[in-house]
Order: sequence, then structure tokens, then C-alpha cells
Amino acid sequence: MEQRKENIVMFPFMAQGHIRPFLALAFHIVERKNCTVTFINTPLNIKKLRPSLPSNSSIRLLEIPFSSTDHGLPPDAENTDAFPHLIVELICASHSFKPSFTALISNLIQEQNGHRPLCIIADMFFSWTAKVAHEFGVFNAIFNAGDGYGMGVFHTLWLNLPHLATDSNEFPLPGFPESCRIRLNQIPEYLKTIKPTDSVVKFQQRLCHDWVESDALLFNTVEEFDHIGLTYFRQQIKRPVWPIGPVQLSMESKAGSWELYKNWLDSKASGSVLYISFGSQSTISMSQMMELAKALEASGKDFIWVIRPPLEFDINSEFNAEEWLPEGFEQRVVGEKNKGLLVHKWAPQVEILSNKSVGVFLSHCGWNSVLDSLSHGVPIMGWPMTSEQHFNAKKLEEEMGVCIEVANGGSCEVRHEDIVAKIELVMNETEKGKDMTRKAGEVMEMLKNAKKDEDGFTGSSLKAIDEFFNAALLQREKTTMSHNNGNLLGTREVLSSNSLV
Ligand SMILES: *[C@@H]1O[C@H](CO)[C@@H](O)[C@H](O)[C@H]1NC(C)=O
Ligand SMILES: *[C@@H]1O[C@H](CO)[C@@H](O)[C@H](O)[C@H]1NC(C)=O
Ligand SMILES: *[C@@H]1O[C@H](CO)[C@@H](O)[C@H](O)[C@H]1NC(C)=O
Ligand SMILES: *[C@@H]1O[C@H](CO)[C@@H](O)[C@H](O)[C@H]1NC(C)=O
Repeated sequence: MEQRKENIVMFPFMAQGHIRPFLALAFHIVERKNCTVTFINTPLNIKKLRPSLPSNSSIRLLEIPFSSTDHGLPPDAENTDAFPHLIVELICASHSFKPSFTALISNLIQEQNGHRPLCIIADMFFSWTAKVAHEFGVFNAIFNAGDGYGMGVFHTLWLNLPHLATDSNEFPLPGFPESCRIRLNQIPEYLKTIKPTDSVVKFQQRLCHDWVESDALLFNTVEEFDHIGLTYFRQQIKRPVWPIGPVQLSMESKAGSWELYKNWLDSKASGSVLYISFGSQSTISMSQMMELAKALEASGKDFIWVIRPPLEFDINSEFNAEEWLPEGFEQRVVGEKNKGLLVHKWAPQVEILSNKSVGVFLSHCGWNSVLDSLSHGVPIMGWPMTSEQHFNAKKLEEEMGVCIEVANGGSCEVRHEDIVAKIELVMNETEKGKDMTRKAGEVMEMLKNAKKDEDGFTGSSLKAIDEFFNAALLQREKTTMSHNNGNLLGTREVLSSNSLV
């Protein structure tokens, strides 16, 4: 008789920045553990995902019923990419999923003749799934698409609000080593202006707090360079914390478009090109854009710049080079001098970063971009825009030595002279620049090794996946045993008697 494959249920929040890493994790687990995945989301998101999976895929898509208008939201508001201002409303609406999620799990079990899924891997916003999982005696893990350090700083800031209790410009972070101090300008604007009694504080604190309901945390990172952040969570949550990264989906390449970049990059010397992108959601202000353009021209370096309308305008509007860039910039720098490429909307980032001509990435430090860059040994010039991007930049610079910060947020004043100085510091073969490149190369090796499985060596991230799988198996065995004894122990009790916890 053919052995039944284990099934893992995954449920990300309704945003591309959550769905994509979950899908990457699904591919990774299916390959490593030869299991199947049931991937749950709201109808429109599932519909969008369907064409990207073959019909015989081990990943099965499943809709959870949701109608945005029932929650006072606009029609079709099912993804924060189209409705970025509705993130809190969508998180709140997702609390109504509990009965239908319970029904979905119950159906899955019936379909499998009583065989329960091995585990439910849920989003950081969906810690309520832990209760449902435990009702069925199923292991529950939260997958966080960021790293332990960035999420840890976020966690401690919301829970402890240390910046409100001090006049000092620099202060320690509760739960972090004394040496990890944070400066006021490394904290996102919205956190600086809150009061402890604000409803958003209560909301965030509950989200952070509820993580302890889960049986484990998974992070898209690597043990070797995230020790501080992972230790923070191990101490705070007192649950297994497994770094299982890097998992990444490469953007769908748009046929034909790569040729243009390839020919241009091929004509440039190794390490000579600066790649600039603020991710798919962010942009900088009009004055910052002007200064950055002047800096590029003054530095004389080659660049590829993924450019979007400035903050003051609709990010999806037509780019107006005459108003938003120095006069004649495109004609002179891009045209006559062939110094750069201006790319509107989308560029094949992984392909660009994998070319040796690219020496540095000026990035908003979103975790996916950070992984793209470091996976290719490319050091970073950090220009974080929001939330944990600030903490990612801090860690990359202070703990890892692979980054220097150029600017901070969309409202700070920047001067092109300062940007030029930073570009030259990294790209002019200075000691600092060479050191950053060397360290980025070391991190690239760590990322590769973490997922290596050969000649008797198993990398740390693969070991972590195996441990996670085994813990979930063990828990199910125990709940099955107690069930058979006519004594269904609470999963929490079973877990706490489990030496892995
Ligand atoms: C995967 O699992 C199935 C069912 O248990 C089994 O028949 C198959 O040989 C396994 N494949 C690998 C590569 O282990
Ligand atoms: C699905 O089908 C394709 C083509 O028919 C095949 O190459 C692939 O191996 C199949 N995948 C699985 C998981 O069976
Ligand atoms: C990448 O860049 C190098 C020069 O730095 C060039 O020689 C090479 O052909 C490029 N490779 C690809 C695949 O684009
Ligand atoms: C950096 O190199 C460029 C030439 O590529 C040169 O013009 C510039 O003066 C250098 N800057 C510093 C600070 O040495």
C-alpha cells in the first residue's frame, strides 16, 4: 500500500509580502519533506495564485470564504497591495475567519479518513489559529517572513515602548544585549508619536503577545547571522524558534526584457555598477529624488535605477522626468554618457544582482531585497523607509558590517554631496568598501551553506526544518496515544511534557 504523504496547512495574511514568502516556504518544505501543502487564502488571492501552480502540484490551493463588504470594506478589498491603507481593517476582519477556518480543517480531516494534518503554519497576524490547531491536536507554528533581529526590535519596541520613557537620543532595547542600543532616528515616525493608551498600541501589543499561543516560531533567516534576534525570541517566547531560510521566490521574468540589461551590464567593469531600488511599494520624496540624481551624476558611477513617481504623487502615475529629475538628466547621463539605466516599475532584480558588474545595492532594506543582495554577495547602501526596514539596516550595518546607511525615511533632508561621499566610500576601492564586499561574500557563503545537504553535511536551516517536522510528528503521536486511551490531553499539556519545548 502506498504510504500517505503528510499534509501541512499554510495560511498567510492577505498581502503579497506575506503570500510570496509563504509560497516560497511551501515549495521548500514540499521538496525537503516530500509532503503536500494545503495553502489557504481568500477567494481573490487564490484566484490570482492559481495560474502559477501546475495542476499536479503538491501544493493545493483552498479558498476561505470572505466578502470584504460584510466588514464595511470596499468591494474586492482582499489584498493590502491594492488597499495599503486598510491593513489594520483587514487584520481585524480576519478574526472573523475562525469558524470557517475550523470548518476547513475539519473537512480536511474527514477527507483524509480521520488523518490530521501534521501542522498549521500561520501568519504572524493569525496567532488565533493556534487555538483551532490545538482543538484538533495539531501543531501550530507562526512563520515570519523577516529575520529574528528586525522582528525582535519591532516586538520589544511595541511591547515596552522604551523610547517614551527616556529623553536620551540613544537607549537600550529591553531583552536585547546592552550593546544593541537604538537611536531615536532609527525608530519609524509613527512609533515616535504614539501614546501608550492609543488603540493602535493595544492592538499591536496583543498581536505580539499572542505569539506565545503558538508552539513554535519560524523565521526566514539563518542561525549563523541572526543569533541576537533568535536568542531574543527564544528567551521571550520560550518556544522553539527555528531559522529555516532563506526561502525566496524569484519574480516572474518578463520574457525579452533581460536582454537589454544583460548587454548593458556586460559592457561594464566588474563591481562598477550601483543598483538602486526601493522595493515594489516604496518611493522617496521629490527633493530626495533630485538630490539622488545629482549625486549619481556627480559621482560619475554607472547605475541601474528602478524609479517611481515621488511620494508627493500617485505611485502608479506616469513618470515625469522633466519635473522630478534635474534638467536634461536623462538625456545627458543616460543618453550621451551611457552612465545609467532608468527603469520604470519593474526590473529583473535577481538577474541584475547576480551579474558581477553590480558592486552595490542601494536598497530600502526590505527583507526580501536584503536576501536577494546578500545571496549574491552584494553589499548594501541602506535607505530604510518604514517599520522593520530601519532595524534591518541597523543590523546590517552594526552587527554584520555589510551596509552603510545613506538616509532614513521619506521625509529626511538629504544633500547630494553626502550621498556622493557615501557612494565613493563604498565604490572607490577604499578599505571600508573592500571590507563590506568581503563580509557580504562571507554572508553569501552562510546563506548557501545553511541549505546545503551533501557529503554528510546538513546545513543549519535544513536541520531546523527537520527538527520542526519531527516535533510536529511527535506531538501528533502523543495526542493520538492519549486519544486512544480515552483521554484527550490538552495539547498544551502534551507540549509542555515534551522535551523539545
Ligand atoms: C514521496 O512519498 C511517496 C509516498 O509516501 C513515496 O511513494 C515516494 O517514493 C516519496 N518520494 C521520495 C523522493 O522520497
Ligand atoms: C507535473 O507534471 C509535469 C509535466 O507533466 C512533470 O514534469 C512534473 O514532474 C509533475 N510534478 C509532480 C509533482 O508530479
Ligand atoms: C556579468 O558581468 C560580467 C562583467 O562584470 C560579464 O562579463 C558577464 O558576461 C555578465 N554575465 C551575465 C550572465 O550577464
Ligand atoms: C573616487 O573615484 C573617482 C574616479 O572614479 C574620483 O573622481 C574621485 O575623486 C574619487 N573619490 C575619492 C574620495 O577618492
